[in-house]
Order: sequence, then C-alpha cells, then structure tokens
Amino acid sequence: GAAVEVDISALQPGDKITVEWRGKPVWIMKRTPEQLATLAKLNDELADPFSKRVAYPTPEYAQNVHRSIKPEVFVGVGICSHLGCSPTDKFQAGPQPSLPDNWQGGFLCPCHGSTFDLAGRVFKNKPAPDNLEVPPHMYISDSKLLIG
Ligand code: FES
Repeated sequence: GAAVEVDISALQPGDKITVEWRGKPVWIMKRTPEQLATLAKLNDELADPFSKRVAYPTPEYAQNVHRSIKPEVFVGVGICSHLGCSPTDKFQAGPQPSLPDNWQGGFLCPCHGSTFDLAGRVFKNKPAPDNLEVPPHMYISDSKLLIG
C-alpha cells in the first residue's frame, strides 16, 4: 500500500489523531512530559517493555520505553494484538474499574480487557499477546511524518 504523509505541526501535547494506512487506523499521539515520565516506571508490569519479541517485530528505532523516534510522538496501529478490536483512550491516571491499580493513562481494549500504556505496551497477564504494532515510519521534516 501507499505510504501516508502526515503533517503533525498542529499536534499539541496530549493530542491524539488517527490516520488511515493500509486500511488500518494509525494513532499519532503527542505525549506530555508528565505522560512520558510515567513510561519507565511501568516496565516491571509489562509483558515486553522494550519491544524485543521476535514474533511481533517492532522497528529498531522504537525498541525503547517510549516506542518512538521522537520521545514525545507515539505512532502506533490502533488494533489490539489479541483479536483485532480497537482499544479506547483511557488517558486519566488513577484507580478506575477494569484498569491496573497503578494506572497512569493508556488504552483499554473493550473486547477482553487488555490494557496498554501510553506507548502501546501491553500489561502482563492480559489476553493480548503483545504490544500494539508500530508501523514503519520516518520524519521527512521536523513536523512531517511518512508512514509506510
Ligand atoms: Fe483486545 Fe481481545 S481483542 S483483548
């Protein structure tokens, strides 16, 4: 499929937009400094914190705790790695029903309850076998992304 060019110059911290690539929803989220700071603290609670699993390849530039090229900008496919439902935004931190005790914001899959942090990393012991997919992408300028 064709690569998709996205101008993210208007994206503010905390914003998330969805674009379509190869028929899939791709999320682009600019995380706030506070949101970014939560990621490293969650590593022990996640199934694959550094995205090293070979069965679910993550591009090398996203094999880090923020799973992205620019730390603040997450680019991920919004499809659960279990059976393909679309996880919903749960950006509010703090205890909430169906969410891990130490919830710092992220995504909840409505189908079978898998939870993902703000880098799309899946929590341990959830039906989803792995993190959300990071599509191949690159920056063609400071605020222009090429996905695919
Ligand atoms: Fe997401 Fe099953 S499809 S948990």
